Amino acid sequence: MNPGLIPLIVYLSLLFNTLSEAQPSSAGPRPLALNCGSKDGGHDADNRKWESDDKYLVAADKSVSSTALTHEASLCSDVPYMTARIFKGETSYKFNVNSTSRYIIRLHFYPSNYPDYNISDSYSVVTTGTMTLLRNFSAFITAEALSQAYLIREYSLAAFNSDSITLTFKPADKSFAFVNGIELITEPELFDDKAGLVGVADTAGTIDGVSSNMQTMFRLNVGGQYIHPKNDSGGLMRSWYDDMPYMFGAGTISHVGNVTIDYKGLPEATAPADVYRTARSQGPDPNINKHSNVTWVFQVDANFTYLVRFHFCEYHLEKINQRVFKILLNNETAFNSADIIAWTGGKGIPTRKDYAVYIGNKRGDAELWVTLHTNIDLQPEFYDILLNGLEVFKLSDARSNLAGQNPVPSEMMQKQLIANREAHDPNSICSKQVIVGGAATVGVAAIVLLIMIRKKRRAPGSDPGSTSWLPVYGTSTASKSTTSRKSHGSNSLSKDAVCNCRYFSLLEIKRATNNFDESKVIGVGGFGKVYKGVVDGNMMVAVKRSNPSSEQGVNEFMTEIEMLSKLRHRHLVSLIGFCEEGDEMVLVYDYMGKGTLRQHLYRGNKITLSWIQRLELLIGAAKGLHYLHTGAKYTIIHRDVKTTNILCDDSWVAKVSDFGLSKTGPNMHQNHVSTVVKGSFGYLDPEYFRRQQLTEKSDVYSFGVVLFEVLCARPALNPSLPKEQVSLADYALQSARKGTLEEMVDPHLKGKIKAEAFNNFTDCSIRCLSDHGMERPSMGDVLWTLESCLRIETKVEGTTNSPKSSSPSDMVEVPIDNSDMIAMHLNTLNLDNDDDDDDAIFSQIVNPQGR
Ligand SMILES: *[C@@H]1O[C@H](CO)[C@@H](O)[C@H](O)[C@H]1NC(C)=O
Ligand SMILES: *[C@@H]1O[C@H](CO)[C@@H](O)[C@H](O)[C@H]1NC(C)=O
Ligand SMILES: *[C@@H]1O[C@H](CO)[C@@H](O)[C@H](O)[C@H]1NC(C)=O
Ligand SMILES: *[C@@H]1O[C@H](CO)[C@@H](O)[C@H](O)[C@H]1NC(C)=O
Ligand SMILES: *[C@@H]1O[C@H](CO)[C@@H](O)[C@H](O)[C@H]1NC(C)=O
Ligand SMILES: *[C@@H]1O[C@H](CO)[C@@H](O)[C@H](O)[C@H]1NC(C)=O
Ligand SMILES: *[C@@H]1O[C@H](CO)[C@@H](O)[C@H](O)[C@H]1NC(C)=O
Ligand SMILES: *[C@@H]1O[C@H](CO)[C@@H](O)[C@H](O)[C@H]1NC(C)=O
Ligand SMILES: *[C@@H]1O[C@H](CO)[C@@H](O)[C@H](O)[C@H]1NC(C)=O
Repeated sequence: MNPGLIPLIVYLSLLFNTLSEAQPSSAGPRPLALNCGSKDGGHDADNRKWESDDKYLVAADKSVSSTALTHEASLCSDVPYMTARIFKGETSYKFNVNSTSRYIIRLHFYPSNYPDYNISDSYSVVTTGTMTLLRNFSAFITAEALSQAYLIREYSLAAFNSDSITLTFKPADKSFAFVNGIELITEPELFDDKAGLVGVADTAGTIDGVSSNMQTMFRLNVGGQYIHPKNDSGGLMRSWYDDMPYMFGAGTISHVGNVTIDYKGLPEATAPADVYRTARSQGPDPNINKHSNVTWVFQVDANFTYLVRFHFCEYHLEKINQRVFKILLNNETAFNSADIIAWTGGKGIPTRKDYAVYIGNKRGDAELWVTLHTNIDLQPEFYDILLNGLEVFKLSDARSNLAGQNPVPSEMMQKQLIANREAHDPNSICSKQVIVGGAATVGVAAIVLLIMIRKKRRAPGSDPGSTSWLPVYGTSTASKSTTSRKSHGSNSLSKDAVCNCRYFSLLEIKRATNNFDESKVIGVGGFGKVYKGVVDGNMMVAVKRSNPSSEQGVNEFMTEIEMLSKLRHRHLVSLIGFCEEGDEMVLVYDYMGKGTLRQHLYRGNKITLSWIQRLELLIGAAKGLHYLHTGAKYTIIHRDVKTTNILCDDSWVAKVSDFGLSKTGPNMHQNHVSTVVKGSFGYLDPEYFRRQQLTEKSDVYSFGVVLFEVLCARPALNPSLPKEQVSLADYALQSARKGTLEEMVDPHLKGKIKAEAFNNFTDCSIRCLSDHGMERPSMGDVLWTLESCLRIETKVEGTTNSPKSSSPSDMVEVPIDNSDMIAMHLNTLNLDNDDDDDDAIFSQIVNPQGR
């Protein structure tokens, strides 16, 4: 046992949480509390009544009731934890609900052993409608890793538009699923349809909270104490925790205000008055404050967008510009000049503000940093910050999924678990004593991690890998990937794909790349490296080798083979073949001699493309996208249209590449593809953020940005420019309103574009950037406009550049013709080492040199 943990555990035990009777509440019907697997319900330690779950089970019931074999000393209450419902097959509960209300669902799990069931074999899938709440969820592993006796998961779900909701439990594979308690509580609408998404220009990125489904990750009474569910406002039975364990660094003070809280327009259910009555600020020394930040760090699941809610209430100052501070999420500014009085108008009036941030591309757990820093530039009267409460919600992703992965205990934690088992003293403070209820089950993990972070800082030489929650990848990688390969291997490729693609042996690939010679690397992508190679004596190819530890990569590889093998078009990158042998997974593309469109636009480009050349390249790319949208069997949405994904072959034929993110569209599914926030900042369709629904018009939006990028020869995002010019899309829309579009044009093109072509080109480009997909032209319309522009230009320039036909015959599939084959890959031509993953994108925004 690490001695450092003991005070912490003692401290946490003080937060000991139990459930209790709800305060009578005017909002909505009585909350439902089910003691699963019990015949007649019962009362918990706080005298709250729980009822039996029997009558909510629907017909096809494959469940049994059971009673836990062990009673952990730290179990706060027998109800609802000592009885469980165990599911041997898919089983649902059905609840009648108000179709226009949000609901909170809380699930309680006590991973003890139950007669005839070994709890370590339990893996649960929990869904409601199309939403996945938990997937391959092992309560046993999670509780062990977090050192908790029981777990609570809390979800806040958007209105169901239906009079009932179905909550389904399903065992994963041959295991079983179980649950001990279920709560269902009507939640008044506490969310807005607009929360600014950090890292995206003001108008572009917002998250619609009203239609979002979320999981509560953390709920903190900043600068205050634990608030029991009984003392929550609105009868929502939430627990609010002390924020100390999440604080990074010291030097703050907590306050209790001597004011009555006047909610004004804010619903009382937003947060109890006790949250607003206490706060944290910096110390009295302005010089220290000017040079320090107040930061909270949370462990979260990677590849999700998080909604971060800040609760504010001023009770000391009463004038504007007395206390002004910046709000940062993961080191990026979410709001520059937070002034609580300016928001609320006076002392004792609370408000809350939501900001969202996407956290991507990490293996396993990732970190969310919340930072407040006084805004020196605005010269407020006091250099200080203030925060009263903080909530963090995880938003569902593209696949309507909220489930993360089971945690992997750190080395330290594992040692501790073993020590605990050896000690085997149920009353020992070292045994599974820590119980943190509510939704903040990840809390303990975060605390432990924080300790480790601090330790790490003290001992700079230590290996960060060994102190993280993530499995240590390294020597063990090979065996790991072999097993994951098996399940994703060529067996899962369709016959189609296998027939349309050439199979290469590993030996051929090694010969082609001089045994993966480092000097042949032409790009590094999320999936691994890309090598330049030669096959069949003289054919140049790009060889993409999967990073053996990237399991996600394997799936995307498969997607790519499937997609590319079916799609053949002059303006799409073609796949030549693939190789799968042992551990190796390799894709082979033709080599794209002229690289990306972007590298010929700016960034020390060697040649300046003429206007006509640019139009021709754009027409090629537009044809490729038009084919994806309409020419293939299914509508295919590219999802990541940008100038680095438009490649040029030796004869300057533009080809669209990177289908790793592609999704098949409406023909296949309902009206839209709902998605996770994927794509690249600067190109992202704002509607796609608001609705999390993707249509082919999202590609049109991105292509609109590409059109301006080509016209203006500047990047989609350039943080080194004045604020209003950072985002190309915003700048273009602004300029169009002011009628100053001409000023944006690449100086090399000034005076070289015919007025009619310029007007029609910019008209069309601006329409591509329309806020609503409906108002944007189709790719076919864009193509038509581009071709007519080219016609206008070539009328006088001579006949050599006569436009190619855009008749449908040009769109049909063309047979593979190796001599004409293109293809370097999307992710692959990562020559400037950017745009490759979200982190890189973020770093570009942060670091102006990135461009
Ligand atoms: C459903 O909820 C809405 C507001 O949340 C309320 O106005 C309406 O009366 C409720 N309907 C029923 C049948 O309870
Ligand atoms: C449950 O299974 C695990 C591993 O499968 C085993 O180590 C453990 O002893 C089993 N527990 C019981 C009570 O059978
Ligand atoms: C609720 O708040 C009151 C007053 O602040 C306090 O006395 C009481 O102990 C709290 N209830 C619980 C269950 O913590
Ligand atoms: C709180 O404010 C009231 C009136 O403003 C005052 O009478 C009381 O003494 C204050 N209490 C404290 C502890 O400062
Ligand atoms: C924020 O910046 C600090 C250093 O300034 C760094 O240590 C930390 O990792 C960054 N956090 C994130 C989430 O990027
Ligand atoms: C405060 O945070 C910002 C953004 O993460 C960082 O740039 C700055 O260096 C930090 N300052 C201090 C004193 O930590
Ligand atoms: C997040 O997504 C990236 C890229 O799609 C993938 O490499 C990574 O493994 C994912 N991380 C998790 C924890 O799923
Ligand atoms: C389920 O979770 C276990 C434990 O974390 C893990 O070993 C296993 O690979 C997971 N299975 C799937 C299909 O994700
Ligand atoms: C340019 O746009 C105008 C207005 O939409 C249209 O009438 C004209 O035909 C277009 N020019 C060409 C050459 O397509």
